[in-house]
Amino acid sequence: MGMSTGDGKIKLGVLGSGSGSNMQAILDAIQDGSLNAEIVLVLSDNPDAYILERAKNAGIAAEVIDCQGYETRFPDVSQREVAEKLKSLGVDLVCLAGFMRLVKQPLLDIFPDRIINIHPSLLPEFPGLMAWKQAVDAGAEESGCTVHYVDAGMDTGPIILQAKVPVLPDDTAESLHARIQEQEHGLYPAAIKQVAGSMS
Ligand code: GRF
Repeated sequence: MGMSTGDGKIKLGVLGSGSGSNMQAILDAIQDGSLNAEIVLVLSDNPDAYILERAKNAGIAAEVIDCQGYETRFPDVSQREVAEKLKSLGVDLVCLAGFMRLVKQPLLDIFPDRIINIHPSLLPEFPGLMAWKQAVDAGAEESGCTVHYVDAGMDTGPIILQAKVPVLPDDTAESLHARIQEQEHGLYPAAIKQVAGSMS
């Protein structure tokens, strides 16, 4: 894996569909010097996603992914387009941060072991949508968040780092999600740092 600058600074591409608080946390870690990386491109399948605003406010290139009118699929042609953009900018590592479409081939083949995701549970517990609500509904005493490599399954790839979050007796889905997100914001930059170390 060629690190183009030679100073160990890895180039990140971030894909998100929503608020982008994790992208912001990665950016903050870069800016405060705790993460030696650069976000070179932010892509979203949702033209209204706040992650695009955050990127633009930070002077980072931000673009909408054309998903050909599909509501939930990530069509091959769109994945190829994304891959080309990321490759042309020399992206070393692709970070999914609240990206709501399943990434499969061809993108996985173009970035083998170079796509990671953050998920709001202690995987393999509670894969899939609204994992924080799943945890509350199941009466779990503990949940958390996981950064993992992306493979062809849903939230199934090898785990990089996890952080635990207790589920409190009076937790709602929303209050648990808020506390999980606080942990996510420390975990994601730490996981990127670890992956970057293993790449150099
Ligand atoms: C996070 O809870 C993440 O775990 C899940 O989607 C949410 C994204 O939040 N995959 P944000 O867009 O980073 O604020």
